[in-house]
Amino acid sequence: MPVTREGHAVAWPGRPTATIKGWQVRIPLVKRCAEPPTVIGRAVDADARPRPTEIVVITTTDLTKVYRSRGREVTALAGVDLHVRPGEVYGVVGTSGAGKSTLIRCVNMLERPTSGTVSVDGVELTALSGGENRAGRELREARRRIGMVFQHFNLLASRTVQQNVELPLEIIGLDRTQRRRKAAELLDLVGLGDKARSYPNQLSGGQKQRVGIARALAGDPKVLLSDEATSALDPETTRSILKLLRDLNQQLGLTVLLITHEMDVIKSVCDSAALMRGGRVVESGELADLLAKPGSELARELFPLSEFGTGHAGTTVLEITFQGDTSAQPFVSQLARTYQIDINILGAAVETISGRMVGRMRVELAGSHQDNVVPIGYLREQGLQVDVLGAVNGVVA
Ligand SMILES: Nc1ncnc2c1ncn2[C@@H]1O[C@H](COP(=O)(O)OP(=O)(O)OP(=O)(O)O)[C@@H](O)[C@H]1O
Ligand SMILES: [Mg+2]
Repeated sequence: MPVTREGHAVAWPGRPTATIKGWQVRIPLVKRCAEPPTVIGRAVDADARPRPTEIVVITTTDLTKVYRSRGREVTALAGVDLHVRPGEVYGVVGTSGAGKSTLIRCVNMLERPTSGTVSVDGVELTALSGGENRAGRELREARRRIGMVFQHFNLLASRTVQQNVELPLEIIGLDRTQRRRKAAELLDLVGLGDKARSYPNQLSGGQKQRVGIARALAGDPKVLLSDEATSALDPETTRSILKLLRDLNQQLGLTVLLITHEMDVIKSVCDSAALMRGGRVVESGELADLLAKPGSELARELFPLSEFGTGHAGTTVLEITFQGDTSAQPFVSQLARTYQIDINILGAAVETISGRMVGRMRVELAGSHQDNVVPIGYLREQGLQVDVLGAVNGVVA
């Protein structure tokens, strides 16, 4: 494995370049690893790149998709770099038309991208022949390792639950006994062992989605793709399906890439997230890092504080984010005591995001930003993330 000048090992399968500390570098071949990496330039979206030493299970590189119909062109994807690590639940959010479904359909090659590459579990799918309706043998085999769950379940009404789950097993040529055994195991796994002989129209929406998930797991996939799997469900059923996805992720080590337009979905099950707009990923990263990133748009949507007061003229308004160990510190009273200052609390909230307790507090200190440089430094030294808000709501530091 190549080693950089700073001593980081770089594992990025299939790529001659990597991003190290925000710089895009060409990595020397293993044989010549004594050579330092050559700096090519500043990475376009350093946050979207995996860190050195990270292995990725889904990678898209500069992915574009242009639909052409009746002389019109629609650019659905305009250069998407996505890096999903093994065993994580990765959420993609964005408004309608942002390109989310196109991205997920390109990841399993239901749509062939116009340019760029897609690799899943070490196989570069874009290098395999066929696609969309006529996949070649290698692409069909690679796809088997990618399960897909749909918003409207896509179950066959004329088949029983068991027969729906058996369908992909028939396609791969398992005999009847093997199919029955596997379908029974999968239905048990999703909590529907007693519904094997029911038909889809005898099931609730949540039960239908469980069948959809069991069917998606039939090929023992490494990766599960989900396009708005809970959008047609009520909030309680949504929670139970998300819990099932989380359980499967943990029990089977399954990597999940899910598309949603609901921030609550991201908050409750995802480890990482990407925000799409106009066919591009405009922000991405682990939720914990995003929450600690000044000015992060995703963090603001995950944890909005807009209803809180914005302070008075001539004061300094701080937004303090605390998570993990820092959440137990009585930092407001410590700050007031240490610097003999008054602190006006404008608002505070605590949320559980990705299983971690995260708190945010907006406070107002007398005097200008300059006057408060020392107390702000003190808070940052305590491991707290401090954003200084401008006089009219904008983040300035
Ligand atoms: N088959 C197609 N032919 C032409 N244009 C398409 C096709 N599929 C998608 N598009 C266009 O590509 C863009 C992205 O669509 P996409 O379905 O990926 O968005 P989305 O983010 O999933 O939206 P939603 O949240 O509404 O599902 C849109 O402008 C859409 O109209
Ligand atoms: Mg969509």
